[in-house]
Amino acid sequence: MIALIIFIILTANHFPVTGVSTLKSGDQLNLTSHLISPGSNFTLGFFTIPETNNTYLGIWYTNDEQFKKVWVANPSTPIISSSAIVVIDQNTGKLIIATGESTHLNVSDNQSGDSFNLTATLQDNGNFQLKNESDDQILWQSFDHPINVLLPGMKLGSNLKTGRNWILTSWLSDQIPDSGAFTLSWEPNGEDDQRILVRQRDQPYWTSGSLKNQNFEFMNVNNLLLFRYDLDYVYTDEERYFSYNSINYVNPMWILRPHGRIVDGNDRVISSSDLCYGYDSGNGCVASSNTPQCRSESDKFSPMNGDFASDMTRRSVDDNSSLSIGDCMMNCWNDCGCLGFITGGNGSGCIRWSGTKSVSNFSVDSLGNSVSKFVLVSSNSDKGNDAKILIWAPIVAGIFLLLFCFGLWWYVKDRKLKQEERQKRDDRRFLELMASESFRDSGDIDRDGRKGSDMVVFSYAAIVAATNDFSDENKLGRGGFGPVYKGKLSDEREIAIKRLSRTSRQGLVEFKNELILISKLQHTNLVRVLGGCVHEEEKMLIYEYMPNKSLDFFLFDETRKALLDWPKRRNVIEGIAQGLLYLHKYSRMRVIHRDLKASNVLLDQSMNPKIADFGMARIFKQDETEAITKRVVGTYFGVLILEIVSGRRNSSFSHLDQTINLVRYAWELWQQGDALELQDPTLADTCDIDQLLRTIHVALLCVQENAADRPEMSDVISMLVNETMQLPVPKRSAFFFGGTSSMSTSVEQKSKDCSINKMSITEMEPR
Ligand SMILES: *[C@@H]1O[C@H](CO)[C@@H](O)[C@H](O)[C@H]1NC(C)=O
Ligand SMILES: *[C@@H]1O[C@H](CO)[C@@H](O)[C@H](O)[C@H]1NC(C)=O
Ligand SMILES: *[C@@H]1O[C@H](CO)[C@@H](O)[C@H](O)[C@H]1NC(C)=O
Ligand SMILES: *[C@@H]1O[C@H](CO)[C@@H](O)[C@H](O)[C@H]1NC(C)=O
Ligand SMILES: *[C@@H]1O[C@H](CO)[C@@H](O)[C@H](O)[C@H]1NC(C)=O
Ligand SMILES: *[C@@H]1O[C@H](CO)[C@@H](O)[C@H](O)[C@H]1NC(C)=O
Ligand SMILES: *[C@@H]1O[C@H](CO)[C@@H](O)[C@H](O)[C@H]1NC(C)=O
Ligand SMILES: *[C@@H]1O[C@H](CO)[C@@H](O)[C@H](O)[C@H]1NC(C)=O
Ligand SMILES: *[C@@H]1O[C@H](CO)[C@@H](O)[C@H](O)[C@H]1NC(C)=O
Ligand SMILES: *[C@@H]1O[C@H](CO)[C@@H](O)[C@H](O)[C@H]1NC(C)=O
Repeated sequence: MIALIIFIILTANHFPVTGVSTLKSGDQLNLTSHLISPGSNFTLGFFTIPETNNTYLGIWYTNDEQFKKVWVANPSTPIISSSAIVVIDQNTGKLIIATGESTHLNVSDNQSGDSFNLTATLQDNGNFQLKNESDDQILWQSFDHPINVLLPGMKLGSNLKTGRNWILTSWLSDQIPDSGAFTLSWEPNGEDDQRILVRQRDQPYWTSGSLKNQNFEFMNVNNLLLFRYDLDYVYTDEERYFSYNSINYVNPMWILRPHGRIVDGNDRVISSSDLCYGYDSGNGCVASSNTPQCRSESDKFSPMNGDFASDMTRRSVDDNSSLSIGDCMMNCWNDCGCLGFITGGNGSGCIRWSGTKSVSNFSVDSLGNSVSKFVLVSSNSDKGNDAKILIWAPIVAGIFLLLFCFGLWWYVKDRKLKQEERQKRDDRRFLELMASESFRDSGDIDRDGRKGSDMVVFSYAAIVAATNDFSDENKLGRGGFGPVYKGKLSDEREIAIKRLSRTSRQGLVEFKNELILISKLQHTNLVRVLGGCVHEEEKMLIYEYMPNKSLDFFLFDETRKALLDWPKRRNVIEGIAQGLLYLHKYSRMRVIHRDLKASNVLLDQSMNPKIADFGMARIFKQDETEAITKRVVGTYFGVLILEIVSGRRNSSFSHLDQTINLVRYAWELWQQGDALELQDPTLADTCDIDQLLRTIHVALLCVQENAADRPEMSDVISMLVNETMQLPVPKRSAFFFGGTSSMSTSVEQKSKDCSINKMSITEMEPR
């Protein structure tokens, strides 16, 4: 006995922190040590959720940056104590979590026998197994006790003989692993109808439809060429279960989220099994018999930023901590007075707003400062919106009137003073200007510097003041040509300042001449250049400030991309095309955009696109043969269209296989007649299939290997807009590696250079 205790102490003290996958009788794992599977695929250890300070024992992919938990040992019995260990209990042979002197939880709770020669091993497939080494029996394994994640090789279903069920249960919320409202189970209707069922509090909620040809009717499983799941099932008298393997996925997993949706480890939607309202709406939602009379099929909950008017709606709180978002939604749906809801702290409990159904009394906060709420909207009636406008229109108009009056008063009062000041400033500007030689056409400059549409020379002092001496908090980001700052002029106007990197080889006069030309380019789909500033060696461009971010900010973010429905995306594509056409029309000035990409397309309040950074090639003095470069811009545009349609970055493929990119992927889908698979899943509801196919078709025409085959921008626009126009069959795309195209490598190279190299324009040799 004493020997045994000494043994425990010794092993406990010498347990290596890394590289161990097995816990033997007597070993213990504490809050800071881990088990790592033999191939390092998975890690087991304690983790603490910061919002609640609760600690759990869990398993995650070792190289997952987000540490998504694929299994939790104690979802409903969190550890609050500051010390805890996992051991194989010497007396009972059970795997236990112990805090202090006492057993906190029997992790394996169904075996008994001699504890001698037992091991608990974390395997490379993520399974944690307790095994009797003496007779090789598996006593317990985590795969038999799934939480909310299905890993490759795990079973979903049941063993009819032992009565064991393998069912996923959603977490209560993102912060609480305890059981939530949804379960996911395997419920075949006989041998020919294998299907998954999502239940909400035991009521059937959503079904996957039948498994056929490696896909489920209502699931988005195998629609990608590169990434595939190998779906498998067993249907015998003893066992009925589903399992899958993955091909090419990094850290594969299917997660049942707290609101009932199934997603993969990259938050890609596998099934939109959330937001079912008890109607059979053709997407797997199961019809329910007790849908309230006051709701109709067009009523939906939509997440919105804003607030309910407090004097016209009633807010009520239900702090029952076992209510999750699905329960809140259901309760609100069933209560005819309910207008919307959110969950309470840590995602549990509900806060509800009630009032008269026809009017929502909800005002949208376009700045997004208020907490997002689920608001019941009805697509049948616009009454709510009208009412909103009725309330807000006079208020907004009033505010504007007030501002106007104030502005007028201020203007009159200050004019004299300002005039003097302005005169001084203008003189200073001009002195500066003259000192750095003269303009080719000084008539272009509006001396007032305020109203004119032409370029303005800003004094360096004004820019320093506007940007608080280029302070870091005013830095908006860094583009290919140098950092961009936000600035506020003394007259409160907001501007964006691009500080050109010093690699510009131009002289001052040339720079200013170019600026004048560029600032003359004015189009709704181009960001306006207001002017420039020169100070010693430094050159700056001054733009209008766009408060909304760039296209990539929305397009490549899993939640924000929902704001870009199909009509908006189409509008963005058309707008960019119009902007490019305008630029090309000015080709006598040879304005060629050499860096067209999603981050260079800014969006205004209504999501209209505005191209930024055009004309840089001129400032950076790149000589191009315009006919060729125009067609190269066309390929960038084609790639951009594909990114917009698919919601994926061209480069998102490269980590897997250097020879594949979005263009090639799109081309191969097109060849197989599967072009629709390219569609961003979030577009599902809003998409017009014909338009989508036409858009992809045009994109493929733009990226054809042979530059001479690519359409001019004016043709591109007619192709996009004219839905009856016959389109030529696209030929093989550029961007294939190792093939005949020499352009592919240089273009790919370029997109890499942009981000790293300040001189983002590399030489390209189309064909
Ligand atoms: C946990 O175990 C490791 C390895 O045995 C040890 O280095 C560490 O000090 C222990 N931590 C605590 C808090 O006991
Ligand atoms: C969690 O613990 C830390 C440190 O003990 C403390 O600072 C923090 O306030 C706690 N958070 C919550 C939500 O209790
Ligand atoms: C764990 O199991 C033992 C019997 O093996 C039992 O006495 C004990 O109460 C259980 N502990 C907990 C926390 O369930
Ligand atoms: C525990 O063991 C009993 C008896 O062997 C069995 O009936 C029961 O299903 C088991 N429970 C679990 C959760 O494995
Ligand atoms: C392990 O196997 C040995 C030999 O079959 C048996 O005596 C012992 O009770 C088993 N232990 C457990 C915990 O099942
Ligand atoms: C473990 O990871 C390696 C490398 O990522 C992978 O090849 C292997 O298939 C994984 N093993 C299992 C069992 O998933
Ligand atoms: C544990 O069981 C294995 C397999 O039966 C056996 O080879 C080994 O000797 C046992 N270990 C001990 C310490 O008895
Ligand atoms: C809390 O909500 C759960 C789930 O709906 C319910 O079962 C339970 O009775 C509720 N508890 C209280 C105190 O209302
Ligand atoms: C989350 O839960 C913890 C622990 O129960 C609590 O201290 C904290 O206040 C909660 N956070 C919110 C936002 O309610
Ligand atoms: C707001 O809701 C109340 C009932 O809760 C209703 O009487 C009122 O007409 C609504 N007002 C507006 C302007 O929406």
